[in-house]
Amino acid sequence: MAKKKRKKSKQAKASKKSARKVVKLAPKKAAKRANGNGLPRPSNRPWGQAGKALEGVRILDFTHVQSGPTCTQLLAWFGADVIKVERPGVGDITRGQLVDVKGADSLYFTMLNHNKRSITIDSKHLQGKRVLDELVKTCDVLVENFAPGALDRMGLTWEHIHKLNPRMIVASVKGFGPGPYEDCKVYENVAQCAGGSASTTGFREGPPLVTGAQIGDSGTGLHLALGIVSALYQRMRTGRGQKVLCAMQDGVLNLARVKLRDQQRLKAGPLTEYSQYGEGVPFGDSVPRAGNDSGGGQPGWILKCKGWETDPNAYIYFITQAPVWGEICDLIGEPTWKTDPEYATPRARLPKLKAIFTRIEQWTTTKTKFEVMEICNKVDIPVGPILSMKELAEEPSLRKTGTVVEVDHPTRGKYLTVGNPIKLSDSISEVKRSPLLGEHTDEILKDVLKFSAKDIAEIKNSGALSAPKKEEKAA
Ligand code: COA
Repeated sequence: MAKKKRKKSKQAKASKKSARKVVKLAPKKAAKRANGNGLPRPSNRPWGQAGKALEGVRILDFTHVQSGPTCTQLLAWFGADVIKVERPGVGDITRGQLVDVKGADSLYFTMLNHNKRSITIDSKHLQGKRVLDELVKTCDVLVENFAPGALDRMGLTWEHIHKLNPRMIVASVKGFGPGPYEDCKVYENVAQCAGGSASTTGFREGPPLVTGAQIGDSGTGLHLALGIVSALYQRMRTGRGQKVLCAMQDGVLNLARVKLRDQQRLKAGPLTEYSQYGEGVPFGDSVPRAGNDSGGGQPGWILKCKGWETDPNAYIYFITQAPVWGEICDLIGEPTWKTDPEYATPRARLPKLKAIFTRIEQWTTTKTKFEVMEICNKVDIPVGPILSMKELAEEPSLRKTGTVVEVDHPTRGKYLTVGNPIKLSDSISEVKRSPLLGEHTDEILKDVLKFSAKDIAEIKNSGALSAPKKEEKAA
């Protein structure tokens, strides 16, 4: 058994080694593998078995809470070796937030930290700094989302990092970019409000609303991942790393881009596709909240379906797409609207959208949301059922594609998570459980950083990798 284990770890090491070589091919080998254009020959391995997209990339993951961990989790799913550095004894604060199983890491943590390794290091301890410097030398990317200035206060300034490893990419999430708010701490909803999402979400008569989709945190993590992959690509030409910065305000504004579009369109007159136009309510000088109006040029609204009186999610999003207007009229029993000049064209319909949706709703309330979905899609009318989290968790097609995955965890047991939503046909993501706090400290010191047993003992005895004892704390 022990022999088998050793053999396996030898193989794992060999495959990791070869993966690194793919990225840093020696010129002779590269020439041998290259075809006439200097590009690698297409692999003849079966699809999905030619390694992972980011194999050979090592990430020093200094992230916490949601935005940064979303980014590094994606990179890990694409095959990067993500080493998460956590504060001894505490770890990422989310391990202990919103706890549902006593004594186990929370779902908040487990669902954002799959496929990573965890090492505990006190980054302010002298011996901790020694370990961190070695990690900087060995890794390709450092990802962090501390409050502004925290990384510098640890001594990990760009100058220090770049001196130790000129190839290192340093990727950061911050709340705001350079400007009046750059020093502020930011959480999800602050970003939604500062990035233009909240002012444009909700109903006109009501207050601004935040959305349940974590566009500030997870959205910015996604942006950061793209920045990192681009910097890795550029490094192949330049040989040097660079800083990558994603401000949450910028990320949200990017996702709310259509609203800045509408802001500028206001100069040309009222926004005719907003239902406020049909209701005769004048527009002010900034983009109003648009309720459930569609964000594009095809009017839409959320309509009740059969059962709405008791089921909070018995609704459907219904789009009156112009090319299928005839089909909509036939379905709802208003065939004359196909030719009636008051209804026949999109322009004629704009001032009457509310009345039109009320009529369509008379039809949708006679059907369940799934019946509406089936009937409408047969004739190409774009509609979308309002799916509850319960329905999504139980949806077999999402399980089949790996978008919803069941994972086993040693202290909490089985739980559901969202797998990699980005599917690569030659780099298939497996979802592995999140690490326990400091689970991989020893193997990282020994196998990645190549510290000797004597050095490891010295570092450990210094207290740099463990939580201070209670008495010491009190003292
Ligand atoms: N060892 C020792 N100290 C550590 C450590 C470690 N391994 N890891 C973190 N710390 C320290 C930091 O150095 C910092 O200390 P300092 O302020 O004395 O320099 C301290 O822990 C706290 O870090 P901070 O980032 O300020 O955490 P916070 O809990 O006070 O704030 C946020 C949390 C999210 C508000 C803040 O990190 C932030 O604004 N991040 C950027 C925006 C962001 O990503 N927000 C979304 C989060 S989902």
